[in-house]
Amino acid sequence: MAKTVAVIPGDGIGPEVVDAALEVLDALDADLEYLHASAGLETKRREGTYLPEATLAAVRAADAVLFGAITSPLATEDPGYRSVILTLRQELDAYANVRPARDLGQPCKAPGLDLVLVRENTEGMYNCPEEEDAEGVTTFRRITRRGSQRVTRFALEWAKARGRRRVTCLHKANVLRKSDGLFRAVFQEEAKRYQDDITADEMLLDNAALQLVLHPHRFDVLVTMNLYGDVLSDEMAGLVGGLGFAPSGSFGPRAALFEPVHGSAPDIAGKGVANPCGAILSAAMMLDHLGMGDEARRVEDAVRRALRQGLTPDAGGTLTTAAFTSLVVAGLK
Ligand code: NAD
Ligand code: IPM
Ligand code: MN
Repeated sequence: MAKTVAVIPGDGIGPEVVDAALEVLDALDADLEYLHASAGLETKRREGTYLPEATLAAVRAADAVLFGAITSPLATEDPGYRSVILTLRQELDAYANVRPARDLGQPCKAPGLDLVLVRENTEGMYNCPEEEDAEGVTTFRRITRRGSQRVTRFALEWAKARGRRRVTCLHKANVLRKSDGLFRAVFQEEAKRYQDDITADEMLLDNAALQLVLHPHRFDVLVTMNLYGDVLSDEMAGLVGGLGFAPSGSFGPRAALFEPVHGSAPDIAGKGVANPCGAILSAAMMLDHLGMGDEARRVEDAVRRALRQGLTPDAGGTLTTAAFTSLVVAGLK
């Protein structure tokens, strides 16, 4: 039976890169049915809401969600704005966000890199209030035993299933002794059950940010809390050519959500030059998740082939999004 995919292109370059991913999926002739849905700033302007009920219904009915990117309004434009992508991650309880940084042949600061970050995706500062008083603002941040357990277990399990040998927990438990301390302790407990297969270690976050630049190949799989993972995944994308190359998948008990790591890139939106690799590789992660591993490998191989023939401007080339996508499609055959 065909798997159902809710498609939410979003704003800016979101629709441009999602179209590219859909073109590749169509060329594969993958057994997928699409529920086309909308969300974001443009949707708000058109329909009066950022996240229509119909979109939520599509997400709930789907086996997977393919998402582009959404432009966040400025706090002055809409002080009460609640991020659409965060709402969707929460709605799906998609607690583990897998963000690979791989050299597929693009111009690369870390040749040969094949690194994966697993980011906790449902708690930390992302899901807590900010309270304002006369003197300033207090930001809350919640780390739970359950939240830490399920994401560290996911990272260890993910690593084991793929023959990875090392999982490194990144935290700041030297300062945030209780909250990060809990995450760290839970990771160490979970890791004991994997000690025959996985070397578990840890590193303070600031040092990890440095080591990622100096010696990225020393890492294998990383696991960390929400905001830390957000920041480090952009750094990791920078090691392998930039944000345009970075895919992601967020997993939980319900449908999984696939999206490039980048945002709506207003500076290049509408010019037809966005790098579609992040979105196309996110679609490959989706195929893998939906049981179409062979198709996923075909897409990755086609991206590798395309990268040998040309690049979009962010990577130093002159190809448009459409021209690069055509190379990927041609490479599938
Ligand atoms: P961004 O990721 O949109 O862009 C950062 C830089 O990277 C820009 O110079 C952009 O041109 C470049 N870039 C990003 N993706 C690219 C691609 N595919 N090809 C070529 N170049 C690419 O981050 P930003 O500028 O900080 O944020 C812009 C908007 O996107 C903000 O409103 C932000 O909140 C939103 N955002 C949304 C998501 C999401 O919906 N998942 C993720 C991140 C940022
Ligand atoms: C990302 C983005 C989001 C995040 C924003 C847009 C809420 O930066 O997916 O990396 O911080 O998770
Ligand atoms: Mn981010």
